[in-house]
Amino acid sequence: MIKKYVFGNPIETDSVIEKIDASGEKLPYFDADESKKELTLTMDRSARIYGLGETVRGINKRGYIYVSNNSDDPFHLEEKKSLYASQNFFVYWDKDLVFGMYVDTPGRVTFDIGYTEINTFTIGFDDFDADIYVVTGSGVTDIVRQFRKIIGKSYVPPRWAFGFGQCRWSYMSADEVREVVDNYDKLGMPIDSVYLDIDYMERYKDFTVDNERFPDFENFVKEMKARNIHLIPIIDAGVKIEEGYDVYEEGVAGDYFVKKENGDRLVAAVWPGKVHFPDFLKEDARKWFGDKYNVLLDKGIDGFWNDMNEPAIFYTEDHLKEVFDGIEEYKGRNLDIRSFFAFKDLVGSIDNNPEDYRRFYHEYKGQRIRHDKVHNLFGYNMTRAAGEAFKRNSPDKRILMFSRSSYIGAHRYGGIWCGDNRSWWSHILLNVQQMPALSMTGFLYSGADIGGFSADVTEDLLMRWTQFGIFTPLFRNHSAEGTRRQEYYRFTDKDGLKKMLQLRYALIPYLYSEFMKAVNNDDMLFKPICFDFPEDEMAQDTEDQLFVGESIMVAPIYRQNARGRYVYLPETMKLLRFRSYDDYDTEILDAGSHYVKAELDEVLVFVRKGHALPLAKPAARVGNIDTSDLSYECFECESTDYELYTDDGISR
Ligand code: GLC
Repeated sequence: MIKKYVFGNPIETDSVIEKIDASGEKLPYFDADESKKELTLTMDRSARIYGLGETVRGINKRGYIYVSNNSDDPFHLEEKKSLYASQNFFVYWDKDLVFGMYVDTPGRVTFDIGYTEINTFTIGFDDFDADIYVVTGSGVTDIVRQFRKIIGKSYVPPRWAFGFGQCRWSYMSADEVREVVDNYDKLGMPIDSVYLDIDYMERYKDFTVDNERFPDFENFVKEMKARNIHLIPIIDAGVKIEEGYDVYEEGVAGDYFVKKENGDRLVAAVWPGKVHFPDFLKEDARKWFGDKYNVLLDKGIDGFWNDMNEPAIFYTEDHLKEVFDGIEEYKGRNLDIRSFFAFKDLVGSIDNNPEDYRRFYHEYKGQRIRHDKVHNLFGYNMTRAAGEAFKRNSPDKRILMFSRSSYIGAHRYGGIWCGDNRSWWSHILLNVQQMPALSMTGFLYSGADIGGFSADVTEDLLMRWTQFGIFTPLFRNHSAEGTRRQEYYRFTDKDGLKKMLQLRYALIPYLYSEFMKAVNNDDMLFKPICFDFPEDEMAQDTEDQLFVGESIMVAPIYRQNARGRYVYLPETMKLLRFRSYDDYDTEILDAGSHYVKAELDEVLVFVRKGHALPLAKPAARVGNIDTSDLSYECFECESTDYELYTDDGISR
């Protein structure tokens, strides 16, 4: 059952699509203090908290403070309170009580889960205006399902988007892209897409293509299509200010850009230098921007990634002026401890400055609203602009879309990737721990940059990360400019890495089936193991193993030089130790803890009792996988017990 409680005058976010009338009752479980703008609950010692989507730290969120405030922050450290997304749904679960709560409000919200007071859960608001949904049910899975039902079905990408995608900031020319594809094909490493980062554009202008480096783009797209390779360009939130640039001029003429209090358009800066931000919250601006994707769709493009949409701001013209003026004061002075730090703060305050998010306004549902009050809706509505347009302009065919920034609701229009992680072992674990929380909040088509975006990757790290990445719907290797090149064909054990890519393709019939079932039944694709074994205390403490779909449990290795790991089995399972799709050993392992060996080229998969895992023969492209020719790894069941989902993979 779901009940809605209304505090203040909430701004509608359109994240819940089912109409639920406000209950006149008092909010249960939490005490509301309107003067402090807070809700508080004393947590039982046994309480665990799950959810909140893309955040730092473990699967059980208890013991830290998380702030919903979409942030462009490339340092995903344990101490961080905000990342790129706000997904304000969580489940409280103790020995006697379980309920879900969705805090639907587009401004800043603080979830202090035992940080200030170890047993107190406080939800703090900048503005105490929120729709709060309380979900009760027979258990955590049922609660998540009910919640997912009211927020609408998750986005479904084309099936080819389950293939491997290679990305790099940046492939600088069509020739470089050709070379990447050639190298994969030469070695027989499967690949379905290559991502185009900002350098495909003409001076970072959205919906343009640099004609020198990518001449005759339409034919280039065709050439890649002929090889069954999809090119996926990036789209950034800021539109370059430049006379004669049609997107800029249309935006000005149509009054589609955000404005300051005095009515002037906000001048911010991102990659192209000075930009205006489209007011994605305004319906006509959304429609206009969404239709702009046609520029590339018309050239044969069929997928995009939306970036810098928190929005990331390098500087605003106004704040930069303040900084330059402020610096004058320090010139020639003997800076002491205080003045030096004040100076450093001033200079260091230029990008993503909170003041800048208070400088501009949106036209939202007939109201003029200052940005910070609806900050967490910006990226969501950029994705929505694209998603709504794709439905209008490509009514039959699915288009790939995922975004960096998000809010619940965006899950209907696209997936997400988890932003600028690093080539760190701890970030494999972060990836593992974020996936179930993303499943809970409806973001099923998601994944992280495999191998890590920033910092230099090592071959063993890439191998181990890939061994988890082959289970995430979005499976993309991406790295930043200036870091070590990270394409699989550049490393020593090419054969071992190729086998991992092939294993991914062998798993696609299973992953796609489980993905589609999760979409259709509002289920989770990734689950902490205690969700299915609620009474099992060891399972409750297990934060580095996951169920992926109905049939398997994965236990990724995320420690340097580890040649195996402890695995906890809540029930008897069948271990498959894969070296490749057709080279693996199997062993029945009893419930309990086991040290399970896994050399660097081996992946551990556990088939659950009464379940089957279909495996295909890998192909070079998703489209060539023969789903009628599957083998099954069954554990105490028949292959016919497995419900395989198939479709044409492209129609809506
Ligand atoms: C941002 C994105 C990253 C991209 C880079 C350049 O940092 O998160 O994925 O490569 O911008 O576009």
